[in-house]
Amino acid sequence: MSEYSTIVVSTDNRVGTIQLNRPKALNALNQELMEEVVSVAVEFDADPNIGSLLITGSEKAFAAGADIKEMADQDYPGMYASDWFRRWEDLANLRTPVVAAVNGYALGGGCELAMMADVIIAGESATFGQPEINLGVIPGMGGSQRLTRSVGKAKAMDMVLTGRFIGAEEAERIGLVSRVVPDDQTLSEARKAAELIAAKSKPAAQMAKEAVSASFETTLQQGTRLERRLFHSLFSLADQKEGMSAFTEKRDPEWKHR
Ligand code: CAA
Repeated sequence: MSEYSTIVVSTDNRVGTIQLNRPKALNALNQELMEEVVSVAVEFDADPNIGSLLITGSEKAFAAGADIKEMADQDYPGMYASDWFRRWEDLANLRTPVVAAVNGYALGGGCELAMMADVIIAGESATFGQPEINLGVIPGMGGSQRLTRSVGKAKAMDMVLTGRFIGAEEAERIGLVSRVVPDDQTLSEARKAAELIAAKSKPAAQMAKEAVSASFETTLQQGTRLERRLFHSLFSLADQKEGMSAFTEKRDPEWKHR
């Protein structure tokens, strides 16, 4: 029996996979699931044998949002005291690259969870939305911030204020997802991407993630300076010599740092 009640966890080819598994609730993100997902992800992040994470759901739903039934009777003092949703920030702050494979609904917290990933591969019938406004609330897992940074004010306001759902094609057009693939290939394509990333030099992949992520937080000048310093620092690792020698010798690199 699995030691988790809301997720299924596996590792293969240096990829740590977390599958959300509350099918009866369309993978609604309750507190138990949050704790299980984040604690496993943090463990993967510290594991030298893991080079990337893959987060996925089911055919029908990546996740249909935070668990509305769990939240319905909560009050302000309790939400504030527990800093409801804060734990998800630990997932957003992982250093290991994360790929999300999204089929079906990615709504509210589901869309926000997908946006915490670095690469989002969506099936052609995936549906994204921030419908919290229809519940009398607003996004609470970073949607107002990450969505706006990904797709700009016009689209973010449209989604957050009207609560309208968008399909995968529109999500790709506006820059919310990285790629759209046939539904039956979502997981395999996402796995391929995760394996490709996990096969790179790990510090290079982590620093690439750090540099791109910094663009959400810094000025252009600070960001380009950070990028240069990270770039310079990679010259202290054997993998820079290996990668450049392999190129000139016309062979595949064999990374030392995994
Ligand atoms: N929380 C709790 N339970 C949920 C849920 C959610 N977010 N989404 C779906 N479920 C449950 C349903 O209540 C239902 O359970 P029962 O069988 O016990 O009634 C089961 O999952 C199946 O759902 P439906 O019968 O509704 O399935 P459907 O195919 O008719 O509709 C849907 C699918 C359009 C996704 C619909 O379920 C829906 O609108 N879900 C809620 C979407 C939503 O509002 N998400 C935002 C949540 S708030 C949030 O996420 C805050 C934040 O920023 C973090």
